[in-house]
Amino acid sequence: MNNVIFIMGVSGCGKSTIGKLLAQELSIPFFDGDDFHPESNIKKMSNGQPLDDDDRQGWLEALNHLAKQQLTKNSCVIVCSALKQKYRDTLSLGINSRTKWVHLSGSFEKILERLKSRKGHFMPSDLLKPQFDTLEEPKNAITIDISQKPQEIINEVKHQLEEKSEFGLFGLGVMGKSLCRNLAKNGFKISMFNRHVDGVEVDVAKNFKVEFKELSEAKAFDDISAFVNSLQQPRCIMLMVNAGKTIDYVIEDLLPHLSENDIIIDGGNSNYKKTKERNDYLKSKGVHFIGAGVSGGEEGALKGPSIMPSGDLEAYKQVQNYLETISAKDQNGLPCCTYVGPDGSGHFIKMVHNGIEYVEMQLLAEVATILKVMGQNSDEIANTLDSWRSKASSYLLDITTVIFKKKEGNDWLVNKILDKAGNKGTGNWTTIASAELGVPSTLIASALFSRYISFYKEERIQLNSHFKSDKTSDLKLSETEILEAYQFARIINHYQGFKLIVEASNKFEWNLNLSEIARIWTSGCIIKSALMQDLVEVFKTTTNILMNPEMIQRINQYKPSAKKVVSQCIYNDITTPALNEAIQFLNGITTEYASANIIQAQRDYFGAHTYQRIDDASGNSYHTNWD
Ligand code: 6PG
Repeated sequence: MNNVIFIMGVSGCGKSTIGKLLAQELSIPFFDGDDFHPESNIKKMSNGQPLDDDDRQGWLEALNHLAKQQLTKNSCVIVCSALKQKYRDTLSLGINSRTKWVHLSGSFEKILERLKSRKGHFMPSDLLKPQFDTLEEPKNAITIDISQKPQEIINEVKHQLEEKSEFGLFGLGVMGKSLCRNLAKNGFKISMFNRHVDGVEVDVAKNFKVEFKELSEAKAFDDISAFVNSLQQPRCIMLMVNAGKTIDYVIEDLLPHLSENDIIIDGGNSNYKKTKERNDYLKSKGVHFIGAGVSGGEEGALKGPSIMPSGDLEAYKQVQNYLETISAKDQNGLPCCTYVGPDGSGHFIKMVHNGIEYVEMQLLAEVATILKVMGQNSDEIANTLDSWRSKASSYLLDITTVIFKKKEGNDWLVNKILDKAGNKGTGNWTTIASAELGVPSTLIASALFSRYISFYKEERIQLNSHFKSDKTSDLKLSETEILEAYQFARIINHYQGFKLIVEASNKFEWNLNLSEIARIWTSGCIIKSALMQDLVEVFKTTTNILMNPEMIQRINQYKPSAKKVVSQCIYNDITTPALNEAIQFLNGITTEYASANIIQAQRDYFGAHTYQRIDDASGNSYHTNWD
C-alpha cells in the first residue's frame, strides 16, 4: 500500500536532510516542497517578505497533485513546512488516509541556532518567530524531537512507519477474525488482539495467525499494552466485541495505553445512544470514537461488508481508506461504506437495517408457511422462491431458497429446527426507538413480537388444545398472488424503515442522505436487494417512498393480491402478522378522516384532555361536559 510521507516543521528543523535520508533508506522518491514554489513566492521570501495564504494556496495544491500522482506508482517523501492545519488539509486532500505526517519538532532557540549557522538558505532567521507563531501542532503526526542525531531520527521514523501496524483489530470472534483476514488480504499491516482467559481463550490471536497464509505479516497479541504499542500513531483500533457493557470495559482497559487523537471504532451492533455517550466521553479524553454499523455476517466481513460509520468526520477521514477498501462494492464499483453522519447515526441506521431485516425474514417465513399449507414440500417451496428471483431478488430470498433445499437424511433440515426464534436485541431497540420518536414502525414491531410469540412454545402447545382451528389446505391462491403480497409488504417495510431514519435525522439534526444509505445497502449487507437498488434512485427525488410514482404504481398493482392472500389466511387461521400489518398500515396512512376523533372524545370525556375541531383552523382547544 503506497503512502505519502510528509515531513513538516518550521524552517531550519532539518526537513530536507531528514527527508532525503529517509527516502534513501526506504528507496522511494524524495521531493523538496520548496522546489515547487512559483518564482513569485521565492522572490518574496528572498526579499524577506513572508508568504500569505493566497501565495501558498497554488503551491500547496501543486504538492497535493504531485502526491496523488506519486501514489499511483509508489510511496514518496515530500518535505514541506505545512505549519497550519488548513495547509495540511490542502496537501492531503483526497488522500488523507494514505498520508503520513512526520513533524520535526524543536525549541525556538535550538532552531534559531541551527539557522544562524546555515549558509545560502533563503529564509533569514528573523522570520523564524512568525513561523513559530503560525505553527499549529499537528494532531495526527509522528512527532520527533530534532535534538537527536539524523540517523536516530530516521530510525525512529522508520520504526514508527515500518514496524508498526497501521490498523488494530480488537476481539477475534467470528466477525473480528473475518475482518482481520479481509484487511490483511487488502495489504494492510494489522495487529490483532484477543484477551486471555485461562483455559477458555488461550493464544487465540496467535493460533488464528498461523491458520491463514494472509496473516503471515499480521501481529498477534493477548497483551493490551503490547498490542497498542504495536500500532502507528494516531492509532486506529476497531473493536469487534459484544455490544453492551463489554464495550465500556474494553474502552477503560484501552484508555491508559492510548494517546491523544487515537481513534477507536466500535464495529458492533451498539445502541446508538450509547455510541453518542461514548463519543462524548472519549472526546473528553482526547480520543476519537467512531460508531460503525457493520452488516454482512461472517462471509460479508470476509469478502466485503456494508459499513455504516459515524462520529467525528475528521477522525473518519483517518480510517476511511481502511473501511472503504475492505467494504463491499456497489454496482458502480463504489464502496458500500460512507460517512453516515454525526454521533451515533451509523449505529442508528444499522439498528434500522436490522429492523428491516427482521421484517424481510418474517415475510419470507410467512409466505413459505402459506406455500406449505398449500401442499408444497420444502423442495417445492425452494423452487417457488427461486422462481421469484427475477421479480423480487434479495440476499434473504436467496438464502431462504438454499435453506429449504437442505436435507438431513430423508427429511429437510428446516423441519427439524425448534420453532423458537432468538434475537440479539436490535429489533427490540428499533421498536423502542420508533415508539420514542413517534414513528409507526408497525411491521418491525410485528416481526419482533412474532419472534416473542414463538418463544412461548410450551404455552402455544397447551393453548392449541383449547381453541378450534379452521386450518385447511384449501387456499385458492396462485403463486403470483403470494409473490405480489410479499412484494407489497416489502415496499411498506422499506417505507417504514426509511421513515424512521428520516424522523431521527430531523430530530437529531443528522442531515442523513437516504439515497446514499440505500446505496451502501445494495451490497455486502443482509438486506441487499433489487428493491434497495431501486430506492437509491427513488431517494434522489423524495424522502417518502410512497410519494414515488413507480412505487405508487407497484403498491396499487400488488394490493388486491395482498388483500386476497391475507383474507384467505385469516379464514384459514394461518398466522401472517407482517403481511396483514402491511395492509392495515397502508389503509391507515392513506385514510383522510381516521377514527382518532373518537379517541380524542374519549380522552376529553374521562380526562378533560381537550380536543381540536375541524371547523376551527386556529387550533384552539375545546372541552365538553359530555354527560
Ligand atoms: C447483519 C446482521 C447481524 C446479525 C444480527 C442478528 O447485518 O449482519 O444483522 O448484525 O445477524 O445480530 O440479529 P438477531 O440475533 O437479533 O436476529
